Amino acid sequence: MKQVQYNGLTFVPFISKEEIANRVREIAADIKSDFEGSVPLFICVLNGAFPFAADLFRAVGIDAEITFIRLKSYQGTGTTGAVKEIVGLSENIKDRDIIIVEDIVDTGHTLAKLLVDLKKLEPARIKIATLLFKPEAERNGVKPDYVGFSIDPRFIIGYGLDLDGMARNLEDIYVLKKD
Ligand code: IMP
Ligand code: MG
Repeated sequence: MKQVQYNGLTFVPFISKEEIANRVREIAADIKSDFEGSVPLFICVLNGAFPFAADLFRAVGIDAEITFIRLKSYQGTGTTGAVKEIVGLSENIKDRDIIIVEDIVDTGHTLAKLLVDLKKLEPARIKIATLLFKPEAERNGVKPDYVGFSIDPRFIIGYGLDLDGMARNLEDIYVLKKD
């Protein structure tokens, strides 16, 4: 693997597609044993989680459904800040087992808000699968149930993760090169 450039920034190889594939298989096995017999609904958080969700969903190998949501941000006034709203969830999730699929949990703000909103819809269980986890998120009370890789708080791209919309189609994950 060689380094790549986007927006004049240089990124170096960080996690290979083989390492990703191995970890996805391991997480899939855990999910399979936790949800066998339940027909869970995977909720893929767009845009970044789509490659991970596609690979994970196929690897789990039990009866399951998948749907897709986005989170819409609004500019709040004053100190309210950005408010996020779920877009696109048309399924009735009451009494269902839910597996949220995220690309990365960084500060945990996104997931914390999503959890509050989903719990109002009274699902049976909500579990969180994230490919990447920056452990800072634990300070926001968000603890994913299935974590691919815990990483230092550095900026990464590839396998769904973007820099201004670019680099999502890289098969491997790259990290911003240190000067
Ligand atoms: P949060 O800080 O946990 O709310 O994460 C918000 C979103 O920031 C994630 O879902 C990603 O889309 C994005 N993000 C966080 N860290 C990175 C990164 O290292 N590379 C690309 N996107 C990131
Ligand atoms: Mg995301």
